[in-house]
Amino acid sequence: MAKDVDWSNLGFDYVKTDKRYVSNYKDGKWDDGVITEDDKVVISECAGVLQYAQTVFEGLKAYTTEDGRIVTFRPDLNAERMIDSASRLEMPPFPKERFLDAVKQVVAANREWVPPYGSGATLYIRPYMFGSNPVIGVKPAEEYQFRIFVTPVGPYFKGGAKPITVKISDFDRAAPHGTGHIKAGLNYAMSLHAIVTAHNEGFAENIYLDPATRTKIEETGGANIIFIDGDGNVVIPKSNSILPSITRRSLMVVAEKYLGLKVTQREVLLSEAENGDFKECGLCGTAAVISPVGKIVDHGKEYAFASGMDQMGPTLQKLYDTLTGIQMGRLEAPEGWIYEI
Ligand code: PLP
Ligand code: COI
Repeated sequence: MAKDVDWSNLGFDYVKTDKRYVSNYKDGKWDDGVITEDDKVVISECAGVLQYAQTVFEGLKAYTTEDGRIVTFRPDLNAERMIDSASRLEMPPFPKERFLDAVKQVVAANREWVPPYGSGATLYIRPYMFGSNPVIGVKPAEEYQFRIFVTPVGPYFKGGAKPITVKISDFDRAAPHGTGHIKAGLNYAMSLHAIVTAHNEGFAENIYLDPATRTKIEETGGANIIFIDGDGNVVIPKSNSILPSITRRSLMVVAEKYLGLKVTQREVLLSEAENGDFKECGLCGTAAVISPVGKIVDHGKEYAFASGMDQMGPTLQKLYDTLTGIQMGRLEAPEGWIYEI
């Protein structure tokens, strides 16, 4: 029996569900892991995560398909990215097969929380791990906890598919040789002042520029960026300091293989947006799916996209329909993209 939730009116907020997965790392190994009802974490006051922010996370979703199956989308890539993130912060990677099994267990244990097909909501899955033993000198922890909780969510941006206005941030998200390419909590902590500032000024998100020259478009606080040029083809900003979004990597395949579009990944200058070289712009990610951008504001100058402020542009709409069609089982997925629970 599905839970008594008003699925269609969910925002992107935490709802406590019934079960979560926990595994602990001690004496050089991960324990077997359990599903538990206990949503509380008890750690030392001096835990590595509390002192030096040693924590990484992931985000993926479970979907109810048109024919009633529960599936996840490319969780193997989340497992791999979390291994990369952990390695960069000197944390013991949680093995890929264990990650996939844990996702399966926690979704199965919360089956009733998976929003029904067509409700507009999905089950967001949040794996994360953190240093748990006392650390006072600056060094990696020796003990860690890996957890996954799930929470049903609606659209990340209020208004769903309505185009948003974003600003060019005065803050940097990542250092040139820093941690922008991994999913570390620290990247989000340092974006909080920037996002509060943007929201106070009436913007939905920040576009961050490359920190070295501040001339190139990187990504937003929680999503990669995708542009459609004047010929209707896809342009993706290339940078070593953006998160390798699984949604964006999937959209590149969808654009080429399903829609026959040309996809170019290259450095994108802010001046190209200023010159009106792009007709459509969208933010893509697990939470954002594809959220259309109607306008970029750069210190008072407005760069409006031809697609306007009323609806998603035609090419992004096709990408959106195809990607979500694959995720919801309406379209055949490329081999290995869909994991049934
Ligand atoms: N970029 C940032 C900074 C993010 O936090 C996210 C969210 O995961 C993404 C991009 C999108 O990545 P993905 O498509 O793997 O969810
Ligand atoms: C995601 O899309 O999964 C994210 O992590 C973005 C944001 C909610 C942090």
